[in-house]
Amino acid sequence: MELNDMKLLYEGKSKSVYDSGDSDTLILRFRDSATAGNGAKKAELDGKGKLNAAISAIIYDYLSENGIETHLEKMIDDVTALVKRVEIVSVEVIVRNIAAGSFSKRYGVPEGTPLKNTVLEFCMKSDEYGDPMMNDSQITAIGLATQAELDEMRSAALRVDSLLSELFDKCGITLADYKLEFGRFHGRLILADEISPDSCRLWDKSTGKKLDKDRFRRDLGDVLGSYREVLGRLQNAR
Ligand code: TYD
Repeated sequence: MELNDMKLLYEGKSKSVYDSGDSDTLILRFRDSATAGNGAKKAELDGKGKLNAAISAIIYDYLSENGIETHLEKMIDDVTALVKRVEIVSVEVIVRNIAAGSFSKRYGVPEGTPLKNTVLEFCMKSDEYGDPMMNDSQITAIGLATQAELDEMRSAALRVDSLLSELFDKCGITLADYKLEFGRFHGRLILADEISPDSCRLWDKSTGKKLDKDRFRRDLGDVLGSYREVLGRLQNAR
């Protein structure tokens, strides 16, 4: 699709947002840019945008078929989505089923340890402050979200988690952890941003191979091959 004439509203780390000409929607373009460590490490991975767009679309279609409202209206082409124009809540929700990453470091729990219950963490969405974890009273005190919104985000995240764990299980993939973002749309909270190997930890169930952005973060190689593997398995499972 021709984006030259469209007004660029915002350029994120891996996606660009364009005006759609309609007050209720936006156009979201998945780029090949990869970043890690809050922008400290950068690369262009040829074809990543297309893979993440396709993976996120399969996941969002599946979630909406199962009663979770998402911002995705439709894919316009391989890397471009028409999405609802939401006001992003400045609180990210981290969902953890298995210890990894910052949870392992912070609490001394070896990566790969199954957690006895699903862990939900709220983090301030802020590159400037490094996405610090926040509790409910801190979030409501500075007005990032209301208590009712936090309660709704928690229950939606748990529903999303059981649906996604089931989907990835069918793919032979362990969903260790991931990040969700919500947006306000006409008084409702709906799922926004993307769910892709850039925002999840996905491990092959039989070999333990990492199939997500840790391959880029930790220089493990075969980043795109792993993303392609995730897409292929999701296509077969659906
Ligand atoms: P976490 O272990 O908190 O951070 P890190 O990736 O730095 O070790 O991340 C948990 C999951 O959430 C992981 O799958 C990556 C994802 N995530 C994002 O996609 N964006 C973010 O800004 C954060 C904090 C996490």
